[in-house]
Amino acid sequence: MSQHNFFVIAMTWLFTGTIVLVVLGQPYTAYYPYCSNTDNYTMASEYQVNLVSLMSDLPQGAINNRGFYTSMAGEAPDRVYGLTMCYVDRNWTQCQDCVRAAAAGVQQTCPFSREMEACYDACILRYSNVPFFSVADPTTAVYMFLRSSVVSDAPSMVAARQTLMSQLAAGAAAAESSPQLLGLANGSVGYTDSLGAQQVIYGLTQCTRDLNASECTRCLTETVNDLSSTFPNDTYGAVKAYSCYVVYSVGGDFLTITLPP
Ligand SMILES: *[C@@H]1O[C@H](CO)[C@@H](O)[C@H](O)[C@H]1NC(C)=O
Ligand SMILES: *[C@@H]1O[C@H](CO)[C@@H](O)[C@H](O)[C@H]1NC(C)=O
Ligand SMILES: *[C@@H]1O[C@H](CO)[C@@H](O)[C@H](O)[C@H]1NC(C)=O
Ligand SMILES: *[C@@H]1O[C@H](CO)[C@@H](O)[C@H](O)[C@H]1NC(C)=O
Ligand SMILES: *[C@@H]1O[C@H](CO)[C@@H](O)[C@H](O)[C@H]1NC(C)=O
Repeated sequence: MSQHNFFVIAMTWLFTGTIVLVVLGQPYTAYYPYCSNTDNYTMASEYQVNLVSLMSDLPQGAINNRGFYTSMAGEAPDRVYGLTMCYVDRNWTQCQDCVRAAAAGVQQTCPFSREMEACYDACILRYSNVPFFSVADPTTAVYMFLRSSVVSDAPSMVAARQTLMSQLAAGAAAAESSPQLLGLANGSVGYTDSLGAQQVIYGLTQCTRDLNASECTRCLTETVNDLSSTFPNDTYGAVKAYSCYVVYSVGGDFLTITLPP
């Protein structure tokens, strides 16, 4: 798969409404991170000490906990809360590398920010001075698709995709009831296109494991709806939000699920 990665481009809507295209291939760079820019912490402050301490715990915590972890460091008013999650369509090596690199790089990604939310190729990393666990943030960080790869029969694909992704959204929400289920659902659905060819769409939905079913649903409802508006006929599309993730692939290329050990 890696040799095809450069066909994947990322797109985000900036506040001006401009579409920005970025060629991927920098696995440890945050895609358009949210960095707070008021109430910045200062060099050698208690907040910075706590942030460094939190970032040294989070990667191993996630590696010991099947690719997801929440933690906190220090005491109020300088307590820092942190969360990290790996995407299950990346392999375990990529997961471990991502959480380590993201945590090690937070102060470069968002220098002196009291809050950060970032999505990377293989993981999510967030921290804040305000407790945020268990509440979904459905804000989209990035959209990903394959350049110039579109289906010939868009209405059939879109209908099949809507059926599949709504089922998977419900499945991921239900999976939040048990830590072993990892807050995710994957599956596939077949359809016949207008040329009479049999096609199969594969899909994955994943929520951070701190959410309950209704918060997971709230996040996935927005991201699944984004598929219809953003990917009218693409063979592959992914939406990375800060609390959930959806991806589909006609034919299944580029969507390999590796459950963490
Ligand atoms: C994980 O994925 C990367 C990128 O596709 C690949 O280079 C690497 O060989 C894979 N590692 C394992 C253990 O599958
Ligand atoms: C806070 O830090 C960010 C990132 O370094 C910077 O862009 C911003 O101007 C700072 N804000 C204030 C109020 O100093
Ligand atoms: C789910 O979590 C949200 C946010 O923490 C909370 O407001 C809501 O009451 C919870 N719902 C249930 C059914 O526990
Ligand atoms: C989900 O992905 C796993 C790992 O690839 C696979 O074994 C399983 O069959 C998939 N589940 C469905 C319902 O397709
Ligand atoms: C795919 O959708 C785009 C945007 O609506 C459209 O411009 C393009 O013609 C479509 N391509 C095909 C092959 O349907």
